[in-house]
Amino acid sequence: MNLALDIADLKEIARRRVPKMFFDYADSGAWTESTYRANEEDFQKIKFRQRVLVDMAGRSLESTMIGEKVSMPVALAPTGLTGMQHADGEILAAQAAEEFNVPFTLSTMSICSIEDVAAGTKKPFWFQLYVMRDKDFVLNLIDRAKVANCSALVLTLDLQILGQRHKDVRNGLTAPPRMTLPNIVNMALRPEWCLSMLRTKRRTFGNIVGHAKGVEDLSSLTSWTNEQFDPTLSWKDVEWIKERWGGKLILKGILDPEDARLAAETGADAIIVSNHGGRQLDGAPSSISVLPKIVDAVGDRIEIHIDSGIRSGQDVLRALCLGAKGTYIGRPFLYGLGAMGKKGVKLTLDIIRKELDITLALCGKRLISEAGPELLYRD
Ligand code: FNR
Repeated sequence: MNLALDIADLKEIARRRVPKMFFDYADSGAWTESTYRANEEDFQKIKFRQRVLVDMAGRSLESTMIGEKVSMPVALAPTGLTGMQHADGEILAAQAAEEFNVPFTLSTMSICSIEDVAAGTKKPFWFQLYVMRDKDFVLNLIDRAKVANCSALVLTLDLQILGQRHKDVRNGLTAPPRMTLPNIVNMALRPEWCLSMLRTKRRTFGNIVGHAKGVEDLSSLTSWTNEQFDPTLSWKDVEWIKERWGGKLILKGILDPEDARLAAETGADAIIVSNHGGRQLDGAPSSISVLPKIVDAVGDRIEIHIDSGIRSGQDVLRALCLGAKGTYIGRPFLYGLGAMGKKGVKLTLDIIRKELDITLALCGKRLISEAGPELLYRD
């Protein structure tokens, strides 16, 4: 029996079920992984004020993110290669999010395409855009997201060039992955995963392959990706992307108050305070440690969301108390997906929901809208 009581349990089950190169892809951070570790550790430094004898009946976690009603302010972050944690991973995760009424964000670098996910879900999902050098490809992606009825565009700003994760280099993680002896042995040891992968047709990067110039199949994808991330991306690009999209826009990857001010000037609907889960600039501060400075700088001008390091409902509450209106989880739902497919993503969300509900109550509040700095100890 797989009794998973928290995200750490799901992580260990995923470690056993998912081939090492894909588990490591989810689990790793850039270079020394110091920012990756700080993301998790800094949440633990924030302590709650326990309150007693407060009426805790009739509690609710319902909230909104960019005006959309959510059952709790926790979205699934965009993650590349999700379909390699579990076959059809993006579709299953989107369905789990839909059943929970929380937003699902599909990555540009997903295995299942925008159209695959739209066909498998009823509720509009969010689409994350990486800006590539090939602007026709970018324009076409934006249009595909519109046709699929995506209700928000999440524009990622912190990946003009790729940070290096040593584990991926060592494992030979390319697209398609290098079939080295350790990779073959590792897959063979996970027959359940192999069978599920053989049963699905989707082992390709559905947003890119067959849509980008010169990428007719997987063989040309790695070189295309390496060349295509646009190092010249600037605030001017945000303008034309906003204009072409015409809908709700979220800017992801803000870590500095000065950038937060520039982001607020674009007229976007929200920013995500994020260091990409410690996968880009190693040595950058944790997201939660910079959140208060960013709230001070622009909290009255733009909705603020946060990700990186959230591993429990308690962490969600910590972020909300410090001024975030919404949160995102990346690895936690990937662990759930790798561990048990859609059931595992639902379990991830259920664990987080319970932890959030109980913590809020033990801090003496009934409504998530009452989360504020007074629930926390001040040094
Ligand atoms: C990511 N992230 C990410 N972000 C993005 O904008 N586009 C992407 O394609 C990806 N891909 C991706 C893959 C994997 C495996 C991970 C773990 C992360 C970053 C992601 O959206 C989010 O910022 C972090 O995952 C948040 O940190 P936690 O919750 O994983 O600690």
